[in-house]
Amino acid sequence: MDKMRLQKYIAECGVASRRKSEELIKQGRVKVNGIPVSEMGVKVSDEDVVEVDGRRISLEQKKVYIMLNKPVGYISSVRDQFSRNTVVDLIKGVKERIYPVGRLDYDTSGLLLLTNDGDFAFRLTHPKHEMKKTYIAEVEGVPDSNDIESFQNGLRIEDYVTSPAELTVLEKKKSSSMVKVVIHEGKNRQVRKMCDAIGHPVISLKRIAIGDLYLKGLPEGQWRYLKEEEIKMLG
Ligand code: URA
Repeated sequence: MDKMRLQKYIAECGVASRRKSEELIKQGRVKVNGIPVSEMGVKVSDEDVVEVDGRRISLEQKKVYIMLNKPVGYISSVRDQFSRNTVVDLIKGVKERIYPVGRLDYDTSGLLLLTNDGDFAFRLTHPKHEMKKTYIAEVEGVPDSNDIESFQNGLRIEDYVTSPAELTVLEKKKSSSMVKVVIHEGKNRQVRKMCDAIGHPVISLKRIAIGDLYLKGLPEGQWRYLKEEEIKMLG
């Protein structure tokens, strides 16, 4: 959020009108970051601690929940140190400060949620909730029944063993195959590492669902707000 004049900020927080807010400042009833402010001209953002009569105020942020069909070539963060495109660049016209819930790799496409609701993001990404995530991948070769069993039994990847996952072959091609992968964890590059571990590296990867929320008809690069019942369903 850009900095704004203190009296405007106080007004936007719903404390008082802009004129009344100026009076509050002149009367010495406002503090910014613990320091009393009684003249005009100070600018603040929501990162500053603003108090009126000793009570902290903040902009009442509407909670927003967005699903995006992420294209390959976007990074799942708000800002990137290498100036690459971020998923937030794709969400135009939303004034709330949203951020991605979990992440998809730069070279992975598909369903990504964004929100400004920290509790929602925490619940969805916390390992204890074991939220099911469904991917469609093209992999080298054709996984066999041993590979499917390895997914079910757990695979050793670096220093951990994966929890039971599903692998289904959907279509066999000449030298590759389309598979469906369902996992309940969200470790870094997990699907790619699991497919590497069974000797069938990923060629392309797309997430099609989180829990029972599916991408369905949302075109690549497009986003939409979640419906009330979808937010509830994700819990
Ligand atoms: N697993 C991966 O390997 N990559 C992703 O982006 C998501 C899951």
